[in-house]
Amino acid sequence: MHPWIADRTTTFDASGIRRVFDLAAKLKDPINLSIGQPDFDVPTEVQDAAIEAIRSGKNAYSPTQGIAPLRAALKAEIAAKYPHEDRDVFVSSGTSGGLMLAMMAMVNPGDEVIYLDPYFVMYPALLKMCGGVPVPIDSYPDFQLDPDKIETAITPRTKMILVNSPGNPTGVTATEEQLEAVAKIAAKHNIALLSDEIYSQFCYDGPYASPAKHNDQTIVIDGFSKSHAMTGWRVGYVHGPSEIIATMLKIQQYSFVCSPQPAQWGALRAMEVNLSGHIDDYRQKRDLIAGELADYYEFTRPGGAFYLFAKAPIDSGERFVEQAIEKGLLIIPGKIFSDKDSHFRISFAAPNETLHKGIEVLKQLAKS
Ligand SMILES: Cc1ncc(COP(=O)(O)O)c(C=O)c1O
Repeated sequence: MHPWIADRTTTFDASGIRRVFDLAAKLKDPINLSIGQPDFDVPTEVQDAAIEAIRSGKNAYSPTQGIAPLRAALKAEIAAKYPHEDRDVFVSSGTSGGLMLAMMAMVNPGDEVIYLDPYFVMYPALLKMCGGVPVPIDSYPDFQLDPDKIETAITPRTKMILVNSPGNPTGVTATEEQLEAVAKIAAKHNIALLSDEIYSQFCYDGPYASPAKHNDQTIVIDGFSKSHAMTGWRVGYVHGPSEIIATMLKIQQYSFVCSPQPAQWGALRAMEVNLSGHIDDYRQKRDLIAGELADYYEFTRPGGAFYLFAKAPIDSGERFVEQAIEKGLLIIPGKIFSDKDSHFRISFAAPNETLHKGIEVLKQLAKS
């Protein structure tokens, strides 16, 4: 290893994902069901608002906490949902930026953080960067948020519970009762509760539920990346207790500085866009893929996001993905999101034609 590289970077690696990218690069015209972003484009009015911002000279740093109109609009929306006295909000550099600041602001070396396995890849990496200790809770085979399992994992070193519903990579959506129970456990033990709500708009079977409704200290991270297909724009937001928000802002001031200003003007316009057409469309994609694969694979029907996490028909998810790639289908091994190598992730954020092609390959592979 190069002598200049810091120890903290050696506690996690990116080789799993790199391997998938390497395999993908060999495919000429893959049936791509691996992508973690919508297949629709940024709404035209949002594009126009960002272009107008650039043309009218809104290109400088914004205030650390975000442009005033976006922050005010977010504050009003959040206050209507959660009328908590001490809830403040700021604009982050994507949800990832918010996650990183949350960890930096709250996790001390040696602090334990509880979350479900399978998990979003960034969680253990970010935690380890802060010296935190990941405590993944096995949620196989149904990927449900089990409040009893969470409570059992609590130790005197537990600092935070991190929930993600609808979840990446499973698409499983926690029930209001499960979230309420976890919210109360966090309050009872005086543990931070961080809720990654990036897929909050993608709920197919009922209204969105947040633990913030049941615990006024919940720190919520959400953003525009997935809902408005703005992954490259880097606009997210965080709301929670004002002192935590102020601490996160202090770190943002000396790191990310701000979310890109023109993108924030786009996000302000995005708040007025009706997404119901896209959500209906994605519900149909969910119905299509879950319906077609039900007799071929074992999985929990996703209630949200745009992922389906299925059990491989052979004993290694990674080897199964290699077989799929040989047939031109790009999917992701579950191992990237988990301590186990039994599953694979399909993203149904793809045109229906691609979905149909992918389904055919998966049906063939299940039989072979
Ligand atoms: C669960 C989860 N959280 C956060 C993110 C990061 O989103 P952003 O583009 O807002 O940083 C993703 C992206 O895939 C995600 O799946």
